[in-house]
Amino acid sequence: MATLELQSVTKRFDDIAAVENVSLRIEDNEFFCIFGPPSCGKTTILRLLLGLVVPDEGRILIDGQDVTYERPHQRDLGMVFQNLALFPHLSAGENIAFPLTERKEARSVIKDRVAEVAAKLHIDHLLHKPPAQLSGGERQRVAIARALVRNPLAYLMDEPLAALDARLRESTRVELKRLQRDLSHTLIYVTHDQEEAMSIADRIAIMRDGAICQVGTPDEIYNRPNSLFVSQIVGSPRINVIQGILSNGQFRAGNLGLELTCNGVAYNGAIALAIRPEDIAITDPGAAGALTAEVYEVEPLGGHTIVDVSLRDDILKVHLPGQPDFAPGQAIGLTLDGDHCYLFSANSGETLRHPV
Ligand SMILES: Nc1ncnc2c1ncn2[C@@H]1O[C@H](COP(=O)(O)OP(=O)(O)OP(=O)(O)O)[C@@H](O)[C@H]1O
Ligand SMILES: [Mg+2]
Repeated sequence: MATLELQSVTKRFDDIAAVENVSLRIEDNEFFCIFGPPSCGKTTILRLLLGLVVPDEGRILIDGQDVTYERPHQRDLGMVFQNLALFPHLSAGENIAFPLTERKEARSVIKDRVAEVAAKLHIDHLLHKPPAQLSGGERQRVAIARALVRNPLAYLMDEPLAALDARLRESTRVELKRLQRDLSHTLIYVTHDQEEAMSIADRIAIMRDGAICQVGTPDEIYNRPNSLFVSQIVGSPRINVIQGILSNGQFRAGNLGLELTCNGVAYNGAIALAIRPEDIAITDPGAAGALTAEVYEVEPLGGHTIVDVSLRDDILKVHLPGQPDFAPGQAIGLTLDGDHCYLFSANSGETLRHPV
């Protein structure tokens, strides 16, 4: 059990700042996700915590102790790497046992511990097999088991489920969440899958270009994004964004013939207005207060449907429950409520107002 902390940490490789002035505190027992686009610095944060790279500036603390210059083996953290590598000449069970055999733990202890972890990850029937005879998903679970077997201060995992197919990823992430709760260990989990981050984490740090944009619970990140970037990076389909001008609480997007009243905002100037696909309603064409629009395409997804709607030059995505009956080219009315929209500064992307 441990708290992990980065204080104003910067790490450069040549002229790129892979991590720039990052401060983060991960609480004891927390399931903490680091989420962001490729190359934004996620793996580098884990490598800094592990001691595989040393920061150019700033400090790293584990349980309040400065470990900035301590070597990896002095830190007692369990790691699952992005490109997992199992020992091909060892069986799954021997792979899992490896961290314990290396430390010369008693055989009976090793046997019990491997059996316990393997049972939790549902791989007890595979322990005798070599990695070459395991599926990708099974290998991944063996790699996770090898990290869990050791009982370190905290676990760090770098996209541990990325190689799995979607269905297996969904079931494994639930197992992992339960496992973390059972083990009551701090877990830092890197992913570039927004759904995974949202579904699994206690808190999420959103990264971009080496910096942290926002840290919050999934609810805060989704409902109270501090920037246009954060609002766009979570939610599927993506939030709809409309550029326009806000003046005395009236938003106008001339190219779309759109005019909306937005309460609770004093700003005047160019803004990006954004609305989640589930906050737009489709009505009959010509209904009072509705915009005239047309169905562009329909994406039936079983339990819900995404309707792509064309509004002059723009396409908006609308999320509707069930399987509504729409056809491309159909005339419809579109109802947008200015108070359900997010407003962002067009220049800085900072949030001016959340929905009210
Ligand atoms: N050892 C290194 N030498 C030089 N550049 C590096 C090194 N490690 C990382 N970088 C660079 O630092 C930046 C951040 O890399 P990092 O691996 O942390 O990104 P990431 O968010 O994990 O990306 P991905 O989602 O693709 O795994 C990248 O531009 C990468 O090329
Ligand atoms: Mg990475």
